[in-house]
Amino acid sequence: CLWVRNLRLKRRLPGPFAWPVVGNAMQLGQMPHITFSKLAKKYGNVYQIRLGCNNIVVLNGDTAIREALVQHSTEFAGRPNFVSFQSVSGGNSMTFSNYSKQWRTHRKIAQSTIRAFYSANSQTKKAFEQHVVAEATELIEAFLKLSADGQFFNPAHELTVAAANVICALCFGKRYGHDDMEFRALLASMDMFGETVGAGSLVDVMPWLQYFPNPVRSVYQSFKDLNKEFFTFVRDKVVEHRETFDPEVTRDMSDAIIQVIDKADSDTGLTEAHTEGTVSDLIGAGLDTVSTCLHWMLLLLAKYPNIQTRLQEQIDKVVGRDRLPSIEDKASLAYLDAVIYETMRYTSFVPLTIPHSTTSDVTIEGFHIPKDTVVFINQWSVNHNPLKWKDPHLFDPSRFLDENGALDKDLTNSVLIFSAGKRRCIGEQIAKVEVFLFSAILIHQCSFENNPSQDLSLDCSYGLTLKPLNYKISAKLRGELLNGA
Ligand code: HEM
Repeated sequence: CLWVRNLRLKRRLPGPFAWPVVGNAMQLGQMPHITFSKLAKKYGNVYQIRLGCNNIVVLNGDTAIREALVQHSTEFAGRPNFVSFQSVSGGNSMTFSNYSKQWRTHRKIAQSTIRAFYSANSQTKKAFEQHVVAEATELIEAFLKLSADGQFFNPAHELTVAAANVICALCFGKRYGHDDMEFRALLASMDMFGETVGAGSLVDVMPWLQYFPNPVRSVYQSFKDLNKEFFTFVRDKVVEHRETFDPEVTRDMSDAIIQVIDKADSDTGLTEAHTEGTVSDLIGAGLDTVSTCLHWMLLLLAKYPNIQTRLQEQIDKVVGRDRLPSIEDKASLAYLDAVIYETMRYTSFVPLTIPHSTTSDVTIEGFHIPKDTVVFINQWSVNHNPLKWKDPHLFDPSRFLDENGALDKDLTNSVLIFSAGKRRCIGEQIAKVEVFLFSAILIHQCSFENNPSQDLSLDCSYGLTLKPLNYKISAKLRGELLNGA
């Protein structure tokens, strides 16, 4: 009845006791997503914590998260005005700016640029796939060099270079060699990016930490430096494009974005600085996520050799040994898709989305949340809900296959890693193609083995993405080395 509903609306959000000044900052632990899931058992799927001077609502579980992001998509489409967000992409990021009319236009432009260079027609699709195949074959050569004479190596940097090259080819029409030291150094410094913008990063919730010497301040200073360095790299390339721009010939995504933002007649409020911000957003988002996904896959394949062998048998049967796998093989490679979805579910390597904020007052599961509240969305909790997933803590790709060996689409749709609603990832389609092609080609061409002197643990570092900690594998060529030509 109305009276009970009103009472609930007025009820304070549940949540743990918050200490003065720091709030619950000291309780987050090394893996905040696990802490948040534990707190959900005690307080329910919607609760409040306090970090520094911010009240933060944490949403857990499929029902509460979809109610917020899908049913109340506009109310949950904001981003907080965190200090760290202002250093990203020269301060003109689409990803890190708050919901507004201008942001909606900005997002549409970024989205349609991706569409134009991937799904627009069969030619753009083919061109994109060829970039990925070319990078996969270069990557294999780099892996084989690193495995020479029985050596073991950590694949992280090579994977980042490969993923960066795919998105740089799209944005600038340019790729970089695996031994280009300047490019490697730039990418290595970006490794730290996610630690600062990941939910639970302290400088954002205790901004006063940046004003006196402490470890958080030095992390924040390096964060500002790396963003500046990365943005300068991107901006220089966009400026070169502007200088040689020909409206009749769209060479790459930078040209396409220059065309719609710089040369637009309508008053969108977007400026040349937003053109640079958009390119920087796309490159930044395209590097770390795809490479981290592949990184986990290699680790899991080395850890579970039986799964690797089953994959190789299926790929050999469908593709044979005389050509490389292609995207057309996808429909026949359900087990590979199952391994990819299980890697995404099991590792939940983007455990929380980028922090959201509410754009107006809103009610979720009967709880009132005021406008401008910071919201953390716990994707990990959805992927590890024991009511949805049998033995969620086991890595078992076959959970995604039905009795005929076909992919269970309902179940794959239940994995939450690209978020949902108005802030949903705009690179999902190209990311899935990249992950499929890279992994199919790597597994077709090589076997990945664990160093017997190392116990392959799944320990990882926390940030916007969870990254496996230092481990080493070796790559062994299976038969003849093929290239994509
Ligand atoms: C945002 C996941 C690859 C572009 C996001 C978000 C997640 C995510 C969780 C945050 C959504 C939110 O805050 O609610 C992933 C995963 C990827 C991937 C798991 C790979 C496996 C890519 C790629 C691109 C891309 C390849 C583009 C080239 C973006 C952009 C946003 C975003 C621009 C910001 C959207 C906004 O704020 O409106 N992604 N992503 N992502 N992603 Fe991805």
